[in-house]
Amino acid sequence: MPTTQDTSIASPIGRDTPRVDGPRKVSGRAQYTADFHFPGMLYAVPVEATIANGKLVKLDTAAAEKMPGVRAILHRQNIGKIFRSVTQPDFESICDERRPPFEDDVIRYYGQYIALAVADTFEAAKAAADAVRATYVKEKPNVETDLNADDEPNVVETTFGPSERLESHRGEAEAAFAGASVKLDHTYVTPVATHNPLELHSTTAIWEGSRLTLYESSQGVINHRGVLAQMFGLPEENVRVITKFVGSGFGGKLWPWTQCPLAVAAARQLGKPVKLVVSRKMMFQSVGHRPRTQQRVRLGATPDGKLVSLQHDYVYHRSILETHHEDCGEATPFQYSVPNLRVTFGRAKRNVGATTDMRGPGRTPGLYALESAMNELADQLKMDPVKLRILNEPKIDESLGIPFSSRHLVECYELGMEKFGWSKRSPEVGSMTRDNLTLGWGMASCSWVAARFSADATVQLRDDGTARVACATQDIGTGTYTILAQLASQRTGVPLDKIDVALGDSALPEGPLSGGSMATASVVNAVFAAADSTSASLLTVATTTPGSPFENRAPADLAFEGGRVFVKADGAAKGVPFDDLLRRANLRLVTGMGKSEGTMADAKPKYSMHSWGCHFVEVTWQPEIARLRVSRVVTVIDAGRIINPLAGRNQIQGAVVMGIGMALFEHTTYDPQSGAPINSNLADYVVTVNADAPPIEVHFLDFPDKELNEVGARGIGEIGLTGFAAAITAAVHHATGVRVRELPVKIENLLV
Ligand code: MOS
Repeated sequence: MPTTQDTSIASPIGRDTPRVDGPRKVSGRAQYTADFHFPGMLYAVPVEATIANGKLVKLDTAAAEKMPGVRAILHRQNIGKIFRSVTQPDFESICDERRPPFEDDVIRYYGQYIALAVADTFEAAKAAADAVRATYVKEKPNVETDLNADDEPNVVETTFGPSERLESHRGEAEAAFAGASVKLDHTYVTPVATHNPLELHSTTAIWEGSRLTLYESSQGVINHRGVLAQMFGLPEENVRVITKFVGSGFGGKLWPWTQCPLAVAAARQLGKPVKLVVSRKMMFQSVGHRPRTQQRVRLGATPDGKLVSLQHDYVYHRSILETHHEDCGEATPFQYSVPNLRVTFGRAKRNVGATTDMRGPGRTPGLYALESAMNELADQLKMDPVKLRILNEPKIDESLGIPFSSRHLVECYELGMEKFGWSKRSPEVGSMTRDNLTLGWGMASCSWVAARFSADATVQLRDDGTARVACATQDIGTGTYTILAQLASQRTGVPLDKIDVALGDSALPEGPLSGGSMATASVVNAVFAAADSTSASLLTVATTTPGSPFENRAPADLAFEGGRVFVKADGAAKGVPFDDLLRRANLRLVTGMGKSEGTMADAKPKYSMHSWGCHFVEVTWQPEIARLRVSRVVTVIDAGRIINPLAGRNQIQGAVVMGIGMALFEHTTYDPQSGAPINSNLADYVVTVNADAPPIEVHFLDFPDKELNEVGARGIGEIGLTGFAAAITAAVHHATGVRVRELPVKIENLLV
């Protein structure tokens, strides 16, 4: 498909655009959820179960209730009614843990909430929560890390991706593997990983009669409203969810967690606003994690490297009650061309909190396994790993039998090799050195689904020359405020600094989740349609206002571009600024609404739509002191048109930083005796810090994907993490000769 460049200099699309909300953030004026305070507000602190399996038999709240400043200790007997919520079609009302808090006395994971202390201050509430005494009947928790699939039907609910891809079969995978001349059969393991955004999950609940307002750290205010309306038996219009800024989410804030209904129930009972902010320790227990996965990959190939069979059989752990699916095999059926393929999965129940989506859910662990296997196959064949991939590049999506809307993965490899200097690679282990360091080079491909949620938006033009764009989506730190301003500016000609962006409020026109890397792709057509509708209203005003220079002209003869209305035949130079026309008509504003449909319900898509890319990495290794460092990264991404390359590069760099953590540091460990996540703090759960992060070079191709929206933008939040760990483990092998197949790579693994 041809590359098309927007040649208009004035176009804000495709330009490096600093965040429109940047000044508010750096000056501290951006209010995050926990920054809101209300008169008479009370503070709530949950009491956490200290067992992971058993029953709560007695709760002694007497001492806690008598403590100074304490308003209530809520528990199963006095919390009041909280309904279960049920998922509605088209991504409405999704929540991970459907059992409302305190619904029964069974304890299924460590840290499950068993009571709630509410007091005048946070300190008083915390002291009271600590003073609650619980008695349990305790059973041994199952937090076993070796995963064998349970003997239960695979009933799952998927949040992203078409369900026909849950398992995939074509040809005769087993027979083709048996007959293949080159074979590989390895199992790859990824550990439990915990979302650690800087901002903790927080809720402030305010009741006014039967109306509920929630200040919430959410990646989806509309979904959040749907769930909470159900839980409290309210019509949706009585619930308002506000999320002005999010200190990141990584998937952990996509769906409501149980601290939210707890705050709402406490506020209902006490008649005051109630704030609840979870602790860092609770972040590891009760608000989701990426499940542990164990993935067996079998590849069969011809001696010259053509894949003949691919089998990907994986098992992941799940919580006792929930059905969240970790879709590790989602990309396997179309990442490469292979005639015989089988993808299957199983699940193993564990006494852990509900698992959930974490940046690149499914594909992040899944492509780690597949890409690791491809790298190992390349080594087995003594073939360059890029060459192996190009040799197996598919022409169409072989699983669905339909073309890709746009796939420029080979161009990604080519640009990546050039920028990294891949041609200087010497493949033998330990054969490359620089400044007395052993170098390891590795690479991997990556991909992420491209789709749209449905979206509504409004665009207003006002008599002071400003505009407003509104949509009930939210900015989770990715740049959504800026993207909406750029889109509105593109279509109206109003400069960026004269556009107000309203989002993060469920009272606005319904907008998409900030999830699945889909928010940007989802809002493009809606904002453009809204701007077009506003412009139609403006032209009506221009042609009907007495004394207007366009009075009695046909609207069809006029155009609105670059902020001016003009007669098409006369050209824009003779145009009149829109605010002049509004003032002349004594109008404060004109507004238009635009809609765009989602793609997820499309049962028979014409195209298979994904973003593509690849990572090239260099590690340095000093065997004398067992020091491993990531020294260089080049990532190339084909994600259609990039609306804001500045924010886009930032997204990919952030994903790569997270990928270094995934490859080398991050893993949540459960104590086999208590079932507690034991490294539940940022000292023991190690994440990448600046000292661990090398220069990260990001390049975008520019092939607009017009199947998805008018500007051809796909998504970029998640793709940068997928595949990355496999590039690191390949580089580690190249430097050290050690093949690590269980993440993270630990120094102990390399001391051989
Ligand atoms: Mo992403 S895991 O959809 O926030």
